Amino acid sequence: MATVRVALAERGYDVVIEAGLLGRAGALLTPLARTGRQIVVSDENVWAALGERLVAGLGATWVEPIVLPPGEASKSWPVLTGLVDRLLGLGLERGEPILAFGGGVIGDLAGFAAAIVKRGCPFVQIPTTLLAQVDSSVGGKTGINAAAGKNMVGAFHQPALVLIDPDCLGALPPRELRAGYAEVVKYGLIGDADFFAWCEANGAALLAGDPAARAHAIETSVAAKATIVAEDERETTGRRALLNLGHSFAHALEAETGFSHHLLHGEAVAIGMVLALRLSAERGLCGAGDADRVAVHLKSVGLPTSLAEAGLDGAGAALAAHLLHDKKAKAGRPMLILADGIGRALAVADISPAEVAEFLDRA
Ligand SMILES: NC(=O)c1ccc[n+]([C@@H]2O[C@H](COP(=O)([O-])OP(=O)(O)OC[C@H]3O[C@@H](n4cnc5c(N)ncnc54)[C@H](O)[C@@H]3O)[C@@H](O)[C@H]2O)c1
Repeated sequence: MATVRVALAERGYDVVIEAGLLGRAGALLTPLARTGRQIVVSDENVWAALGERLVAGLGATWVEPIVLPPGEASKSWPVLTGLVDRLLGLGLERGEPILAFGGGVIGDLAGFAAAIVKRGCPFVQIPTTLLAQVDSSVGGKTGINAAAGKNMVGAFHQPALVLIDPDCLGALPPRELRAGYAEVVKYGLIGDADFFAWCEANGAALLAGDPAARAHAIETSVAAKATIVAEDERETTGRRALLNLGHSFAHALEAETGFSHHLLHGEAVAIGMVLALRLSAERGLCGAGDADRVAVHLKSVGLPTSLAEAGLDGAGAALAAHLLHDKKAKAGRPMLILADGIGRALAVADISPAEVAEFLDRA
C-alpha cells in the first residue's frame, strides 16, 4: 500500500493506493463515518461493473447508491440539481461524507454537490478510470459545464480522502484506459524527464495490465500532482497551471468537436501535448527532437497525435478562437503551457491569437 499526503494544513488528506483496496473500503472510511450508512454517487456503467465489489468492501454498512447516467452530459445543471435534491431527500447530515465512485465526471459532479449542499459536506473520491486515478480525484477542482463552456461553474473543494484501487481499471474500456494514460505522460513532460523515459519503456506494459507498472505510474502521478497542489492550491502562483500542459489546446479541440465521443478528453490532451511541444520547438524553447519523441511515444500506444486524426486540419482560426475563451486567457491572448525541454514546462502568455492560428494551420 502506498499513501501520498496532500499537504494542505487543515484541508490536507491522504491518497491511499493499493490493488484490491475496494475490498477494505469500509475500514478505511470508518474514521469519517457519521451515520450507519454510506451515500455513494456513481454512474450506471461503474455501478454495473464494480458496485457489488464496493458494497462488499463496505461491509455491514447500509449503502445508499445514487446512480446517474454516464457521460460528460451529466456534468450539467439539471443533473446537479437532481443530485442535490436526492441528497437532501435522504436527509444528508452535515458532516456526513458523500462517496464519489466513478471517473472524472462523477468526481467533479459529486464533489461540486458536496461543496454546495448544506453549505459544504465532506466527500471521498474513489476513482475508477485511469484519468481520475492519476489526475482528477486529487486537487479539489469540482464543477459542471455551462452553455459558455466546460468546467465554467464550480468550486475548489478538497476531498477528505482518496481511495485508489488500480484493480478497478480491469473493467475499463481500452480506449478510456489509453486516454487516461495521456495524463500519466503529462507528469513526465511537466517536471520529470526520467518518468517520461520510464513511460517510454513501460507504457505498453501498463496499458496491457501489468500491475507493477500501473502501481508505479499511479503513485508517481499522484505524488507529482499532490506536490503541485500543495504549492498552489488555487492556481494563484502559476505553479498549478503547469498541469495544463496540452490542455488549452485540448479544450479547444474538444469544443470544436462538440465534447463528443469523437474525441475523448485524454485523446485531445495527447494531441495538445504534441502541439505544445511543436510550438515550443518553433519558438526555440526546445529541440524538434523533443516534440518528435513525445509524438512517437504517444502514437506507439495508440493515441492520436495530430489535428488531422481529429478531423481538424485547417481549423486554426476556429481553434484559436476557442483558446481565447479559456479561463486562463488574459488581455486577448491565450495562456499556453509550453516546455523548454522534456520535463521542463513553463507558462507563456505573449503569443497572439493570429500566431497560434497560423501555427495550428500548419501543424
Ligand atoms: N477535477 C479535475 O481536476 C479534473 C482533471 C481532469 C479531468 N477532469 C474531468 O474529468 C472528466 C473526464 O473523466 P473520465 O475520463 O474519467 O471520464 P468519465 O467519468 O466519463 O468515465 C469514462 C467512461 O468510463 C466509464 N467507467 C468509469 N470507470 C469505469 C470502470 N472502472 N469500468 C468500466 N467503465 C468505467 C464511465 O461510465 C464513462 O462511460 C471530464 O469531465 C474532465 O473535465 C477533471
